[in-house]
Amino acid sequence: MALFKSTLNITKFMSSRGIASLSALSDTHQMLQKTCRDFAEGELKPIAAKIDKEHLYPEEQIKKMGELGLMGITVPEELGGPGLDYLAYSIAMEEISRGCASAGVIMSAHNSLYLGPIQQWGTQEQKEKWVAPFSTGEKIGCFALSEPGNGSDAGAASTTAKTDGDNFVLNGAKSWITNGYESQGGVLFATTDKNLKHKGISAIIFPKPVDGLELGKKEDKLGIRGSSTCVLAFDNCKVPKENLLGEYGLGFKIAMMALDGGRIGIASQALGIAQASLEVAADYATKRLTFGKPIIKHQTIQNKLADMALQLESARLLTWRAAWLKDSHKPYTKEAAMAKLAASEAATFLSHQCIQILGGMGYVTDMPAERHYRDARITEIYEGTSEIQRLVIAGHLIKEMGL
Ligand code: CAA
Repeated sequence: MALFKSTLNITKFMSSRGIASLSALSDTHQMLQKTCRDFAEGELKPIAAKIDKEHLYPEEQIKKMGELGLMGITVPEELGGPGLDYLAYSIAMEEISRGCASAGVIMSAHNSLYLGPIQQWGTQEQKEKWVAPFSTGEKIGCFALSEPGNGSDAGAASTTAKTDGDNFVLNGAKSWITNGYESQGGVLFATTDKNLKHKGISAIIFPKPVDGLELGKKEDKLGIRGSSTCVLAFDNCKVPKENLLGEYGLGFKIAMMALDGGRIGIASQALGIAQASLEVAADYATKRLTFGKPIIKHQTIQNKLADMALQLESARLLTWRAAWLKDSHKPYTKEAAMAKLAASEAATFLSHQCIQILGGMGYVTDMPAERHYRDARITEIYEGTSEIQRLVIAGHLIKEMGL
């Protein structure tokens, strides 16, 4: 934790014709990047295949990430975090996910979807209760928005929160909950007035475990198998009214704003998977011989590596630009959607090309290529599918162009 307890000297971006380019990472960012890279190499890469194969939650590693300050990275020092910025979060997420994409999503859902909205909308008392104990990684948070009947159409939430004296009584089911098993708290989006549609949704912090909340089975997933995903079923579950986050009816906005930040986190996770795929492919290409020379000497392979590097670096610039806009308190919804779209599609492309370069060796579990391919796939689905990102981007374009 002590490592990053310094106020960040925010990286300066040069802006030319509206396109942000990075001049240099600050010393703090570089130190963070190196620390996370060393941690990922030493502690995550060696266990990534095992936790994937055996569906194991990397508890010990998440605790160590908490000690490094990574489980509350933008939380200010007075609430127990290192108080770094979102660019730092993006850099750290990429490095952690390069080592283990499961650890990446556990960190991402906790930081951006759980801590993010409470940091932004919580009262001082709520922050002391629901941020401080969670910022060190000893407690983990989750975000409960999607339901079995609605995912992309988040405004159609049918889980209800009825007032009863000093309590809300919660009823309904939330699905696809990352950290559903391990979390000790979460942010729930429930309707307090169904007639008002999305304007009737409120955000409510809930403890775990709590009477009236049952966990569904752990989903058996294609990738990120070291993180848990499950249904949360609320059945007359009572939570104090003081747990309302923000105001009545603000829940949809709170969810959308949390997801804007979350999409930078998932973009960064995708960058880590893509970077790992590039490294595996390039390393293999220097060792594997065909027609009397290493395959990296063949133009076909060089073309593939060039296209991979191009997509990766373009996506990284988009992601860092979105993080910088957020840090600068400028609008960044469109840019976060662009970052997630570009980075998740880059992860899919790079992990696919990585298998192609490795051939048969890419298809078996002796090498990490097939895991990267499986891990990449979800980045185009959760926290808004690629189709939703395109909708968000087009919606902003239409507005900007006055159409
Ligand atoms: N920031 C602030 N406000 C926003 C906003 C944003 N990014 N996006 C929308 N809003 C506001 C609008 O301004 C509008 O406000 P008013 O009612 O005051 O006018 C209101 O929200 C409704 O906006 P829209 O009409 O655009 O809403 P919509 O119903 O058409 O939906 C959507 C828009 C982009 C499709 C949205 O529903 C969406 O993002 N869907 C995807 C949901 C998603 O990402 N789910 C993933 C769940 S988390 C997860 O994956 C699990 C995990 O644990 C990792």
